[in-house]
Amino acid sequence: MPGVSPQPLVELDDLVVDYGRVRAVDHVSLSIRPGEFVGLAGESGCGKSTVAHALLRILRPPGEIVSGRILFKGEDAAALSREQLRRFRWRNISLVFQSAMDSLNPVMRVGDQFVDMLRAHERIDRSQALARAGELLELVGIDRNRIRAYPHELSGGMRQRVVIAMALALSPELIVMDEPTTALDVVVQREILQEIEQLKREFSFAVLFITHDLSLLVEFSDRIAIMYAGEIVESAPADALFQRPEHPYTVGLMSSFPPLHGPIVRLTGIPGSPPDLAKPPTGCRFHPRCPHCTPDAPQLYARQLSERPELRPIAPDHLVACHLAEERL
Ligand SMILES: Nc1ncnc2c1ncn2[C@@H]1O[C@H](COP(=O)(O)OP(=O)(O)OP(=O)(O)O)[C@@H](O)[C@H]1O
Ligand code: SF4
Ligand SMILES: [Mg+2]
Repeated sequence: MPGVSPQPLVELDDLVVDYGRVRAVDHVSLSIRPGEFVGLAGESGCGKSTVAHALLRILRPPGEIVSGRILFKGEDAAALSREQLRRFRWRNISLVFQSAMDSLNPVMRVGDQFVDMLRAHERIDRSQALARAGELLELVGIDRNRIRAYPHELSGGMRQRVVIAMALALSPELIVMDEPTTALDVVVQREILQEIEQLKREFSFAVLFITHDLSLLVEFSDRIAIMYAGEIVESAPADALFQRPEHPYTVGLMSSFPPLHGPIVRLTGIPGSPPDLAKPPTGCRFHPRCPHCTPDAPQLYARQLSERPELRPIAPDHLVACHLAEERL
Protein backbone atom coordinates (compact mmCIF):
# COMPACT_ATOMS: atom_id res chain seq x y z
CA MET A 1 0.00 0.00 0.00
CA PRO A 2 1.21 3.55 -0.64
CA GLY A 3 3.46 5.15 1.96
CA VAL A 4 4.39 1.84 3.59
CA SER A 5 8.01 0.81 3.25
CA PRO A 6 8.68 -2.92 2.75
CA GLN A 7 11.48 -3.02 5.37
CA PRO A 8 9.99 -4.35 8.64
CA LEU A 9 10.07 -2.16 11.73
CA VAL A 10 9.42 -5.12 13.99
CA GLU A 11 9.71 -8.80 13.24
CA LEU A 12 8.59 -11.64 15.44
CA ASP A 13 10.44 -14.64 14.14
CA ASP A 14 9.16 -18.07 15.14
CA LEU A 15 8.33 -16.88 18.65
CA VAL A 16 7.43 -19.39 21.36
CA VAL A 17 6.19 -18.28 24.79
CA ASP A 18 5.29 -20.58 27.67
CA TYR A 19 3.60 -20.05 31.02
CA GLY A 20 4.88 -23.19 32.68
CA ARG A 21 3.11 -26.07 30.93
CA VAL A 22 0.90 -23.74 28.90
CA ARG A 23 2.31 -22.83 25.48
CA ALA A 24 0.51 -19.53 24.89
CA VAL A 25 2.38 -18.51 21.73
CA ASP A 26 3.43 -21.34 19.48
CA HIS A 27 5.87 -20.49 16.67
CA VAL A 28 4.40 -17.14 15.76
CA SER A 29 6.00 -15.03 13.03
CA LEU A 30 4.66 -11.57 12.33
CA SER A 31 6.18 -8.45 10.84
CA ILE A 32 5.09 -4.85 11.12
CA ARG A 33 6.33 -2.31 8.60
CA PRO A 34 6.91 1.36 9.39
CA GLY A 35 3.63 3.25 9.36
CA GLU A 36 1.56 0.10 8.99
CA PHE A 37 -1.65 -0.61 10.93
CA VAL A 38 -1.63 -4.31 11.73
CA GLY A 39 -4.59 -5.94 13.42
CA LEU A 40 -4.25 -9.05 15.56
CA ALA A 41 -7.55 -10.79 16.25
CA GLY A 42 -8.78 -13.97 17.87
CA GLU A 43 -10.99 -15.19 20.70
CA SER A 44 -10.15 -14.75 24.35
CA GLY A 45 -7.16 -16.77 25.55
CA CYS A 46 -5.58 -17.34 22.11
CA GLY A 47 -2.35 -15.55 23.08
CA LYS A 48 -2.80 -12.00 21.75
CA SER A 49 -1.68 -10.18 24.90
CA THR A 50 1.18 -12.63 25.33
CA VAL A 51 2.44 -11.65 21.87
CA ALA A 52 2.28 -7.96 22.89
CA HIS A 53 4.00 -8.57 26.23
CA ALA A 54 6.74 -10.63 24.64
CA LEU A 55 7.28 -7.93 22.02
CA LEU A 56 7.77 -5.34 24.76
CA ARG A 57 9.65 -7.82 26.93
CA ILE A 58 7.26 -7.32 29.83
CA LEU A 59 6.16 -10.91 30.33
CA ARG A 60 5.53 -11.70 33.95
CA PRO A 61 6.71 -15.00 35.45
CA PRO A 62 6.03 -17.79 34.77
CA GLY A 63 5.81 -16.33 31.24
CA GLU A 64 9.02 -16.75 29.29
CA ILE A 65 10.25 -16.63 25.71
CA VAL A 66 11.34 -20.18 25.02
CA SER A 67 12.62 -19.63 21.49
CA GLY A 68 12.42 -17.33 18.51
CA ARG A 69 13.57 -13.79 17.96
CA ILE A 70 12.15 -10.30 18.25
CA LEU A 71 13.83 -7.92 15.87
CA PHE A 72 13.44 -4.16 15.97
CA LYS A 73 14.75 -2.64 12.73
CA GLY A 74 16.73 -5.80 12.22
CA GLU A 75 18.29 -5.78 15.72
CA ASP A 76 17.58 -8.42 18.31
CA ALA A 77 15.67 -6.85 21.23
CA ALA A 78 16.84 -9.73 23.44
CA ALA A 79 20.33 -8.19 23.45
CA LEU A 80 19.19 -4.93 25.07
CA SER A 81 20.22 -4.12 28.63
CA ARG A 82 17.60 -3.31 31.27
CA GLU A 83 18.18 0.46 30.85
CA GLN A 84 18.10 0.24 27.05
CA LEU A 85 14.87 -1.71 27.34
CA ARG A 86 13.28 0.91 29.57
CA ARG A 87 14.01 3.63 27.00
CA PHE A 88 13.08 1.38 24.12
CA ARG A 89 9.65 0.82 25.63
CA TRP A 90 8.32 4.34 25.45
CA ARG A 91 10.54 5.84 22.82
CA ASN A 92 10.49 3.14 20.16
CA ILE A 93 7.45 1.14 21.11
CA SER A 94 4.71 2.14 23.51
CA LEU A 95 1.85 0.07 24.79
CA VAL A 96 -1.74 0.91 25.54
CA PHE A 97 -2.77 -1.87 27.87
CA GLN A 98 -5.88 -3.94 27.90
CA SER A 99 -8.29 -2.02 30.21
CA ALA A 100 -5.96 0.95 29.80
CA MET A 101 -8.53 3.31 31.24
CA ASP A 102 -7.89 1.75 34.61
CA SER A 103 -4.15 2.15 34.25
CA LEU A 104 -4.40 5.84 35.13
CA ASN A 105 -3.65 6.63 38.74
CA PRO A 106 -7.04 7.57 40.29
CA VAL A 107 -5.57 9.92 42.90
CA MET A 108 -3.34 11.93 40.60
CA ARG A 109 -4.36 14.75 38.28
CA VAL A 110 -4.02 13.83 34.61
CA GLY A 111 -1.38 16.52 34.03
CA ASP A 112 0.82 15.21 36.85
CA GLN A 113 0.73 11.75 35.34
CA PHE A 114 2.10 13.18 32.09
CA VAL A 115 4.73 15.13 34.03
CA ASP A 116 5.96 11.96 35.78
CA MET A 117 6.12 10.02 32.56
CA LEU A 118 7.77 12.76 30.49
CA ARG A 119 10.30 13.64 33.17
CA ALA A 120 11.30 10.01 33.54
CA HIS A 121 12.52 10.15 29.94
CA GLU A 122 13.40 13.74 29.13
CA ARG A 123 15.19 16.60 30.82
CA ILE A 124 12.31 19.03 31.00
CA ASP A 125 10.93 21.02 33.91
CA ARG A 126 7.44 20.69 35.30
CA SER A 127 5.92 23.66 33.48
CA GLN A 128 7.34 22.50 30.14
CA ALA A 129 6.02 19.02 30.79
CA LEU A 130 2.56 20.40 31.64
CA ALA A 131 2.55 22.49 28.46
CA ARG A 132 3.47 19.38 26.48
CA ALA A 133 0.71 17.43 28.27
CA GLY A 134 -1.81 20.08 27.20
CA GLU A 135 -0.65 19.81 23.57
CA LEU A 136 -0.91 16.04 23.68
CA LEU A 137 -4.43 16.20 25.11
CA GLU A 138 -5.50 18.53 22.33
CA LEU A 139 -4.09 16.10 19.78
CA VAL A 140 -6.58 13.49 20.98
CA GLY A 141 -9.48 15.93 21.10
CA ILE A 142 -9.46 16.87 24.80
CA ASP A 143 -9.39 20.45 26.05
CA ARG A 144 -5.93 21.25 27.42
CA ASN A 145 -7.45 22.56 30.66
CA ARG A 146 -8.31 18.97 31.50
CA ILE A 147 -4.72 18.46 32.69
CA ARG A 148 -6.15 19.55 36.07
CA ALA A 149 -8.82 16.84 36.08
CA TYR A 150 -8.70 13.62 38.05
CA PRO A 151 -9.41 10.47 36.01
CA HIS A 152 -12.86 9.99 37.62
CA GLU A 153 -13.89 13.40 36.32
CA LEU A 154 -13.49 12.17 32.73
CA SER A 155 -15.75 9.85 30.71
CA GLY A 156 -14.50 6.39 29.73
CA GLY A 157 -13.79 7.54 26.18
CA MET A 158 -11.84 10.56 27.44
CA ARG A 159 -9.77 8.45 29.84
CA GLN A 160 -8.96 6.17 26.95
CA ARG A 161 -7.88 9.15 24.86
CA VAL A 162 -5.64 10.33 27.72
CA VAL A 163 -3.89 6.96 27.76
CA ILE A 164 -3.42 7.11 23.99
CA ALA A 165 -2.00 10.65 24.30
CA MET A 166 0.49 9.31 26.85
CA ALA A 167 1.50 6.54 24.45
CA LEU A 168 2.13 9.21 21.80
CA ALA A 169 4.17 11.42 24.13
CA LEU A 170 7.65 10.29 23.12
CA SER A 171 6.83 9.88 19.43
CA PRO A 172 7.30 6.12 19.29
CA GLU A 173 7.59 4.32 15.98
CA LEU A 174 5.15 1.62 17.04
CA ILE A 175 2.17 1.79 19.36
CA VAL A 176 0.84 -1.53 20.55
CA MET A 177 -2.81 -1.26 21.53
CA ASP A 178 -4.17 -4.24 23.40
CA GLU A 179 -7.98 -4.11 23.27
CA PRO A 180 -7.86 -0.41 24.08
CA THR A 181 -11.47 0.27 23.23
CA THR A 182 -13.24 -2.92 24.22
CA ALA A 183 -14.85 -1.40 27.32
CA LEU A 184 -16.35 1.46 25.28
CA ASP A 185 -19.53 1.56 23.25
CA VAL A 186 -19.25 0.94 19.52
CA VAL A 187 -19.70 4.57 18.48
CA VAL A 188 -16.92 5.78 20.80
CA GLN A 189 -14.69 2.87 19.70
CA ARG A 190 -15.01 3.96 16.06
CA GLU A 191 -14.40 7.60 16.94
CA ILE A 192 -11.21 6.70 18.78
CA LEU A 193 -10.00 4.49 15.94
CA GLN A 194 -10.66 7.28 13.47
CA GLU A 195 -8.58 9.57 15.65
CA ILE A 196 -5.76 7.03 15.86
CA GLU A 197 -5.82 6.75 12.08
CA GLN A 198 -5.65 10.53 11.74
CA LEU A 199 -2.74 10.76 14.21
CA LYS A 200 -0.98 7.91 12.47
CA ARG A 201 -1.16 9.82 9.20
CA GLU A 202 0.22 12.91 10.90
CA PHE A 203 3.01 11.27 12.90
CA SER A 204 3.54 8.14 10.78
CA PHE A 205 3.87 5.60 13.59
CA ALA A 206 2.92 1.97 13.10
CA VAL A 207 0.12 0.35 15.11
CA LEU A 208 -0.36 -3.19 16.32
CA PHE A 209 -4.02 -3.23 17.29
CA ILE A 210 -5.21 -6.23 19.28
CA THR A 211 -8.88 -7.08 19.58
CA HIS A 212 -11.38 -9.89 19.42
CA ASP A 213 -13.64 -7.70 17.30
CA LEU A 214 -12.76 -8.30 13.68
CA SER A 215 -15.35 -5.84 12.37
CA LEU A 216 -13.37 -2.83 13.62
CA LEU A 217 -10.11 -4.19 12.25
CA VAL A 218 -11.40 -4.78 8.76
CA GLU A 219 -12.21 -1.10 8.51
CA PHE A 220 -8.96 0.32 9.92
CA SER A 221 -6.12 -2.16 9.32
CA ASP A 222 -3.69 -2.45 6.46
CA ARG A 223 -3.06 -6.06 7.35
CA ILE A 224 -4.73 -8.51 9.74
CA ALA A 225 -3.37 -11.60 11.47
CA ILE A 226 -5.83 -14.10 12.94
CA MET A 227 -4.73 -16.11 15.98
CA TYR A 228 -6.20 -19.36 17.17
CA ALA A 229 -4.95 -21.37 20.15
CA GLY A 230 -1.48 -19.81 20.21
CA GLU A 231 -0.90 -19.85 16.46
CA ILE A 232 -1.42 -17.45 13.60
CA VAL A 233 -3.78 -19.26 11.25
CA GLU A 234 -4.25 -16.58 8.60
CA SER A 235 -2.61 -13.29 7.71
CA ALA A 236 -3.56 -11.05 4.80
CA PRO A 237 -4.14 -7.48 3.68
CA ALA A 238 -7.40 -6.35 5.31
CA ASP A 239 -9.39 -6.12 2.09
CA ALA A 240 -8.24 -9.58 0.93
CA LEU A 241 -9.16 -11.06 4.30
CA PHE A 242 -12.56 -9.41 4.16
CA GLN A 243 -13.31 -10.39 0.57
CA ARG A 244 -11.75 -13.83 0.60
CA PRO A 245 -11.23 -15.25 4.09
CA GLU A 246 -9.69 -18.68 3.60
CA HIS A 247 -9.29 -20.23 7.02
CA PRO A 248 -12.56 -21.69 8.36
CA TYR A 249 -11.86 -19.95 11.69
CA THR A 250 -11.57 -16.56 9.96
CA VAL A 251 -14.79 -17.33 8.07
CA GLY A 252 -16.41 -18.11 11.42
CA LEU A 253 -15.17 -14.88 12.98
CA MET A 254 -16.45 -12.96 9.96
CA SER A 255 -19.89 -14.49 10.31
CA SER A 256 -19.94 -13.44 13.96
CA PHE A 257 -20.52 -9.83 13.00
CA PRO A 258 -23.03 -8.14 10.69
CA PRO A 259 -21.78 -7.02 7.25
CA LEU A 260 -21.15 -3.31 6.88
CA HIS A 261 -23.26 -3.20 3.73
CA GLY A 262 -25.82 -5.42 2.02
CA PRO A 263 -28.77 -7.47 3.22
CA ILE A 264 -29.34 -8.45 6.83
CA VAL A 265 -28.02 -11.97 7.50
CA ARG A 266 -28.36 -14.28 10.46
CA LEU A 267 -25.15 -14.34 12.50
CA THR A 268 -23.89 -17.87 12.83
CA GLY A 269 -20.65 -17.43 14.77
CA ILE A 270 -18.46 -20.38 15.72
CA PRO A 271 -19.85 -23.28 17.73
CA GLY A 272 -17.86 -24.64 20.66
CA SER A 273 -15.07 -22.91 22.51
CA PRO A 274 -11.30 -22.54 22.17
CA PRO A 275 -9.16 -25.41 23.49
CA ASP A 276 -7.23 -25.59 26.74
CA LEU A 277 -3.71 -24.59 25.72
CA ALA A 278 -2.23 -26.97 28.27
CA LYS A 279 -3.69 -29.79 26.14
CA PRO A 280 -4.34 -28.55 22.60
CA PRO A 281 -5.99 -30.85 20.03
CA THR A 282 -3.73 -32.91 17.78
CA GLY A 283 -3.29 -32.04 14.11
CA CYS A 284 -5.12 -28.86 13.21
CA ARG A 285 -6.07 -27.19 16.48
CA PHE A 286 -9.30 -25.92 15.01
CA HIS A 287 -10.47 -29.38 13.90
CA PRO A 288 -12.93 -30.04 16.78
CA ARG A 289 -14.85 -26.89 15.78
CA CYS A 290 -14.30 -26.91 12.04
CA PRO A 291 -17.35 -27.51 9.80
CA HIS A 292 -15.02 -28.99 7.15
CA CYS A 293 -13.62 -31.68 9.40
CA THR A 294 -15.74 -34.77 8.64
CA PRO A 295 -14.93 -38.42 7.84
CA ASP A 296 -16.65 -37.95 4.44
CA ALA A 297 -13.25 -36.99 3.02
CA PRO A 298 -11.13 -39.67 4.73
CA GLN A 299 -7.70 -38.58 3.52
CA LEU A 300 -8.20 -34.95 4.44
CA TYR A 301 -9.81 -36.01 7.73
CA ALA A 302 -6.77 -38.09 8.66
CA ARG A 303 -4.49 -35.11 8.02
CA GLN A 304 -6.73 -32.73 9.95
CA LEU A 305 -6.58 -34.99 13.00
CA SER A 306 -2.87 -35.75 12.91
CA GLU A 307 -0.87 -33.20 10.94
CA ARG A 308 -0.43 -29.62 11.96
CA PRO A 309 -1.05 -27.31 9.00
CA GLU A 310 1.72 -24.87 8.21
CA LEU A 311 1.23 -21.22 7.38
CA ARG A 312 1.64 -21.08 3.59
CA PRO A 313 1.07 -18.38 0.97
CA ILE A 314 -2.05 -18.76 -1.15
CA ALA A 315 -1.65 -15.31 -2.75
CA PRO A 316 0.89 -12.49 -2.38
CA ASP A 317 1.01 -11.49 1.29
CA HIS A 318 -1.88 -13.87 2.08
CA LEU A 319 -0.88 -16.77 4.33
CA VAL A 320 -3.14 -19.56 5.58
CA ALA A 321 -2.55 -22.59 7.82
CA CYS A 322 -5.18 -25.06 6.64
CA HIS A 323 -4.96 -28.39 4.82
CA LEU A 324 -8.17 -27.70 2.93
CA ALA A 325 -7.03 -24.28 1.72
CA GLU A 326 -3.81 -25.94 0.58
CA GLU A 327 -5.69 -28.66 -1.32
CA ARG A 328 -7.82 -26.05 -3.06
CA LEU A 329 -4.78 -24.34 -4.58
N1 LIG B 1 0.25 -15.73 34.10
C1 LIG B 1 -0.23 -16.76 33.44
N2 LIG B 1 -0.06 -18.02 33.91
C2 LIG B 1 -0.52 -19.10 33.24
N3 LIG B 1 -1.18 -19.02 32.06
C3 LIG B 1 -1.38 -17.80 31.54
C4 LIG B 1 -0.92 -16.61 32.20
N4 LIG B 1 -1.27 -15.55 31.44
C5 LIG B 1 -1.91 -16.06 30.37
N5 LIG B 1 -1.97 -17.41 30.44
C6 LIG B 1 -2.58 -18.30 29.43
O1 LIG B 1 -2.02 -18.04 28.18
C7 LIG B 1 -3.01 -18.06 27.17
C8 LIG B 1 -2.97 -16.78 26.39
O2 LIG B 1 -3.35 -15.70 27.23
P1 LIG B 1 -3.43 -14.22 26.68
O3 LIG B 1 -3.74 -13.34 27.83
O4 LIG B 1 -2.22 -13.92 25.89
O5 LIG B 1 -4.68 -14.32 25.68
P2 LIG B 1 -5.51 -13.17 24.96
O6 LIG B 1 -5.70 -13.62 23.55
O7 LIG B 1 -4.87 -11.85 25.19
O8 LIG B 1 -6.93 -13.23 25.69
P3 LIG B 1 -7.97 -12.04 26.00
O9 LIG B 1 -8.68 -11.78 24.70
O10 LIG B 1 -8.87 -12.66 27.01
O11 LIG B 1 -7.22 -10.87 26.51
C9 LIG B 1 -4.33 -18.32 27.86
O12 LIG B 1 -4.67 -19.65 27.67
C10 LIG B 1 -4.07 -18.03 29.30
O13 LIG B 1 -4.80 -18.88 30.11
S1 SF4 C 1 -7.10 -27.95 8.35
FE1 SF4 C 1 -9.12 -28.89 8.22
S2 SF4 C 1 -9.86 -28.81 10.33
FE2 SF4 C 1 -8.20 -27.34 10.16
S3 SF4 C 1 -9.15 -25.44 9.65
FE3 SF4 C 1 -8.54 -26.36 7.73
S4 SF4 C 1 -10.37 -27.45 7.08
FE4 SF4 C 1 -10.66 -27.03 9.25
MG1 LIG D 1 -5.48 -10.14 26.11
